[in-house]
Amino acid sequence: MCGLVGIVSGELVARRLMDALRRLDYRGYDSAGIATIKGGRLERRRAPGKLLNLQQRLDADPIDGVIGMGHTRWATHGVANETNAHPHVVGDVCVVHNGIIENFSELRKDLAGAGVSFESETDSEILAHIMAQSLARGEKPIAAMLAMLSRLRGAYAFAVMFRSDPSMMMAARFGPPLAVGHGIGEMFLGSDAIALAPLTNEVTYLANGDCAVITRNDVTLFDAHGQPVERARQLSEVGSYLSDKGGYSHFMEKEIAEQPEAIARVLARYVDFSAKFVKIEREMNFSVAAGITISACGTAFLAGCIGKTYLERYAGLNVETEFASEFRYRELPFPMDRVALFVSQSGETADTLAALHACKASGIATGAMINVEGSTIAREADAVFPIVAGPEIGVASTKAFTCQLAVFACIAIAAGRRRGIIDAAQEQELVGHLIEAPRIMREVLSEIQLQIEDLADRLVRVPHVLYIGRGVSYPLAMEGALKLKEVAYIHAEGYAAGELKHGPIALVDKSMPVIVIAPYDRFFEKTVSNMQEIAARGGKIILLTDERGAAKSDLPSVARIVLPHVHDIIAPMIFALPLQMLAYQTAVLMGTDVDQPRNLAKSVTVE
Ligand code: G6P
Repeated sequence: MCGLVGIVSGELVARRLMDALRRLDYRGYDSAGIATIKGGRLERRRAPGKLLNLQQRLDADPIDGVIGMGHTRWATHGVANETNAHPHVVGDVCVVHNGIIENFSELRKDLAGAGVSFESETDSEILAHIMAQSLARGEKPIAAMLAMLSRLRGAYAFAVMFRSDPSMMMAARFGPPLAVGHGIGEMFLGSDAIALAPLTNEVTYLANGDCAVITRNDVTLFDAHGQPVERARQLSEVGSYLSDKGGYSHFMEKEIAEQPEAIARVLARYVDFSAKFVKIEREMNFSVAAGITISACGTAFLAGCIGKTYLERYAGLNVETEFASEFRYRELPFPMDRVALFVSQSGETADTLAALHACKASGIATGAMINVEGSTIAREADAVFPIVAGPEIGVASTKAFTCQLAVFACIAIAAGRRRGIIDAAQEQELVGHLIEAPRIMREVLSEIQLQIEDLADRLVRVPHVLYIGRGVSYPLAMEGALKLKEVAYIHAEGYAAGELKHGPIALVDKSMPVIVIAPYDRFFEKTVSNMQEIAARGGKIILLTDERGAAKSDLPSVARIVLPHVHDIIAPMIFALPLQMLAYQTAVLMGTDVDQPRNLAKSVTVE
């Protein structure tokens, strides 16, 4: 989604603004722009498409100045063209905005009634008009800002600067995150700590409703009531992780390859290796909970569906999973003896955050499984379970998914022990399997690469692919299909294998590849029966199984990938690898923009 950055300095800012925007481009965008002020002139360059286009404009027509702001726009109101790109400028006022102003039509109508004409179709431009009108009436910037905030509904993080006062910038936040960065003799503003990482590692996150006045040496914060407020300065950890491609062609490829190391990091955090038990510092009260509701979006939701099976099996808990976008609007009373767990890589997804707010408002205990520590969801939940995957830059989630699975496994074991469902010996056995995962993942990643390339060569020519599985392989099938859609733009559906005959089998013919995920688990024979039904209708089966499954005769597949046989608790992490690799390789062959697929955003901060 949109990203914004601002710098108030004594040094030139344009090049640094562009660098920061490049660090934000992982969020997904379709136009970009920057503006600076110099000698009483406001200079602006904008371009549709990738940052390369904006850079070309700047190379042809550079701008300088020691205060400036930049923006990458993910279109909501109005197409992705130069006119709709930010910054928006009205008179003295220059604005960049992330989010959606929900009462935009109403405000736009009021402005139009007062004779204002609009340059763009965006909701963001109205912010510049409202500020400009207030300044024209003689109001001071901070009074104008606070008055405007009281009129806005929706979600926003925005920054404003003024041609006539290049010594300061203002910002406000309600919903999408916004961080002020502290430098020496200069201050920064950014959508996240990743954007600010090369500039500073000392950040102050604005709380919801906050407004900030930023000068070269200071930031003054006001809360939602316009009262001065202090917020803690924090050291961001982003800089401690590498966030370049490190020799890989894409971040997605790098992040797939990093998974053994990332899972090892999860285990180092959650497992005592010598005694083989799970250590969780701040546990939720799972021992007395009647059940858990897991809520999330996208890949995090599918990790939740696998987490549900762990929590049911190892902790005997009743678990429901629901998309956060649906859960937030549920009208059912939420029983107070259930706890709610939210899964989010970014910790900023608007629907997940709203679902968390709904639960908090009802007084229900909340937990958050997040990757970005310090994110809004992490700050607001009662208990936090970091997945320590390191920055995930590729829009399509890979390492966050398997790290979420590993954290779910640890939580389920710890809850199972507390609830008396598993004993110490069982815990040791399960932990023993978990700690095998990084080694097995490393082997699988190198051993199946060539086969994946061959399979990708088949997929690249087909318009549709079906993925099927049972048990944990069902959410895995959905995740495999989601990955293929996201990065290779091939229509794919993930189905419960048992549901095939209730509809999707009508699609099966000679041209339809069906990827069957069938580890040798308690569902194996049933899934084989479904394979026979597909083969009988001419379907082309690509089988993902393990050594024990492959040893069974009579498996009607045109291609197969055979993985090591592993315990159920790590099987989803191992079987996720070929699914991710296949989507990645197919996307590379299709020539898509793998790390920033069209229309998608990494951090979905609007509803
Ligand atoms: C977007 C991303 C997905 C991600 C989903 C949830 O759709 O493209 O990769 O799974 O948001 O994001 P979250 O940060 O809440 O895990």
